[in-house]
Amino acid sequence: MNQHLQNILTIIQQDESLTAEQKDSIAKSLKDANKELEITAFKLDRTEKVKRTTAILLEETIEELEQKRKAIEETNAALTQSLEELKAAQAQLIQSEKMASLGELTAGIAHEIQNPLNFVNNFSDVSTELVDEMNEEIDKGNLEDAKQIAQDLKQNLEKINHHGKRAGDIVKGMLQHSRTSSGQKELTDINALADEYLRLAYHGLRAKDKTFNAAMKTDYDESIGLIKIIPQDIGRVILNLITNAFYAVNERKKLSVEGYEPVVSVSTRKDNNTNEIRVKDNGTGIPQKALDKIFQPFFTTKPTGQGTGLGLSLSYDIVKAHNGELKMETKEGEGSEFIIQIPTN
Ligand SMILES: Nc1ncnc2c1ncn2[C@@H]1O[C@H](COP(=O)(O)OP(=O)(O)O)[C@@H](O)[C@H]1O
Ligand SMILES: [Mg+2]
Repeated sequence: MNQHLQNILTIIQQDESLTAEQKDSIAKSLKDANKELEITAFKLDRTEKVKRTTAILLEETIEELEQKRKAIEETNAALTQSLEELKAAQAQLIQSEKMASLGELTAGIAHEIQNPLNFVNNFSDVSTELVDEMNEEIDKGNLEDAKQIAQDLKQNLEKINHHGKRAGDIVKGMLQHSRTSSGQKELTDINALADEYLRLAYHGLRAKDKTFNAAMKTDYDESIGLIKIIPQDIGRVILNLITNAFYAVNERKKLSVEGYEPVVSVSTRKDNNTNEIRVKDNGTGIPQKALDKIFQPFFTTKPTGQGTGLGLSLSYDIVKAHNGELKMETKEGEGSEFIIQIPTN
């Protein structure tokens, strides 16, 4: 029994003014009180234990949460890094697509530069002879003849200059193609741009594969005039469409069906409110199952090293950035036509 209650009980027992009955009654009450005290103490003890377990559990939960937070933080960091890497890889791919198409152009460009260079060489040879002749005439005192020769010389020098500039323009165009786009819209002769890329792509392919041949048809709407576009960007779109077209006719030619004549046509047309550039081929066409994939990045049916699968996806983005549409019509085994539509501003 509780010590204080025990003391009270002892005092009561010794008190002679109380009857035995009264003493028993008080003793019983004291015993009951003691019992209640014991129960309360027991309950208190239990509560204390529960408190301690809860505290431990809480600590564990906090630790777990902290671990989860750290894991999420790490995942976030990893995600951010992957995103950065993806962005870098994408930029790299766009650049390599540019370089790949530049590679396709190199042979064509070399071919294009060779022509003006031949002129320059021939005219300068002739001019050297003319200078000798002029000196002879001066020695003889035939100043009229010497003057005539000088006149011819001047014309030759003008021609040399003209062809030198032409070669310079070709190199400039090549550099423009590989450079990051200026992003500036410029008034552009779209017919000349399309024609230049058509010839470059054709001679590029011819230089790589002497057996390659295709008829090129052009139909340019002269009324189209100058249109406001980013020339490097639209140039890349046209080049990609033309290279795809040449590839498709070449593939169909490999099937060596009697009488097949590969044809690639480029045409332009001005409507009320759209300028249209069409690149058409009578190549392999695009099978139904590839139709909804060809504009997706990385989709290519070409062997590794020959296709990046980025041409049409980049072309689509470029035309969209001009508020235009890139449309396509195709028939498997018969050919395809890609149509660039750019609104007249
Ligand atoms: N004129 C076309 N004729 C047939 N198939 C084409 C033509 N143009 C595009 N394709 C198909 O679309 C795919 C994607 O073209 P593109 O995005 O330019 O990438 P790549 O030329 O590098 O393959 C090609 O691999 C080809 O299967
Ligand atoms: Mg392509």
